[in-house]
Amino acid sequence: MVKRFILMAIAAIFFFLQFPIHNASALELTEETRTIPLNEEGEMTTLSSEQITNGNRLFIRECTQCHLQGKTKTNNNVSLGLEDLALAEPPRDNLLGIVDYLKYPTSYDGEDDYTELHVNVTRSDLYPELRDFTEEDLYDVAGYVLVAPKLDSYWGGSIYF
Ligand code: HEC
Repeated sequence: MVKRFILMAIAAIFFFLQFPIHNASALELTEETRTIPLNEEGEMTTLSSEQITNGNRLFIRECTQCHLQGKTKTNNNVSLGLEDLALAEPPRDNLLGIVDYLKYPTSYDGEDDYTELHVNVTRSDLYPELRDFTEEDLYDVAGYVLVAPKLDSYWGGSIYF
């Protein structure tokens, strides 16, 4: 009985340790912070704190391994920073642009199909890790990518060693 309690306490600690510090205050994000570009036409949308918190959780689960702090392991030129996202073809510095990338990823110039090269929900035979992603999850993780630079001024850019 005691052993079981200790095991559960340890499990609980590990569960909470997964969340980065600023997540603790995620629910206090201002409306301005939660408001991000929706599409290329410049329309804006405001996500809820719950959506950003869910996006953060999914990002840590599936993206941080390659995109720690919005940088891109193996390709410094294609980070998740706003400048890089804006200059992609089509532009990815908006919610629907990133959702589209997670369905049909392309090369930075938009010329090549990357559905066999980058995780996405279309080829779940190749990327089973995203099999449980719902449409809402795609919105939330894309939203998190656009809110993150407001929370961390070192988000995006290059990896220096
Ligand atoms: C196995 C490593 C890996 C994982 C996991 C990964 N990515 Fe990527 N991602 C890359 C690489 C490499 C590129 C650059 C591709 C290129 O050369 O154009 C990239 C590019 C991108 C881009 C385009 C950036 C731009 O400036 O145009 C977006 C958006 C993106 N990733 C989002 C995500 C999200 C969200 C996740 C998690 C669901 C994720 N990635 C998971 C490696 C990864």
